[in-house]
Amino acid sequence: MAYTVTLAGQGWTFVTDAPATVLESAERAGIRLPSSCRNGTCRTCICLSTSGAVRYKTDWPGLSLDEKREGYILPCVAIAESDLTIEAPAANSGVRSSIASRAQP
Ligand code: FES
Repeated sequence: MAYTVTLAGQGWTFVTDAPATVLESAERAGIRLPSSCRNGTCRTCICLSTSGAVRYKTDWPGLSLDEKREGYILPCVAIAESDLTIEAPAANSGVRSSIASRAQP
């Protein structure tokens, strides 16, 4: 089932559908979220989910129980189980990046 992910700060939305992770779905939509390992260990992608639910494709994503309770998720291994709202201030869109890189000498 497809769900909508909203980036609260930017107002951008994209659709995600299992088995795609939130990170993979964002990239397909041209939105770049911070990432590195892409397997739930480095925590580069950590962000706050202010609404919605996820499950993980790994048994032990690199989040503490307290972080999970506070709403933090790891988009690289998170699969949406409902519509989500996330806060990812460092996210950027590929369109904006390509425009910015073309403007440079
Ligand atoms: S990219 Fe490393 S934990 Fe998500």
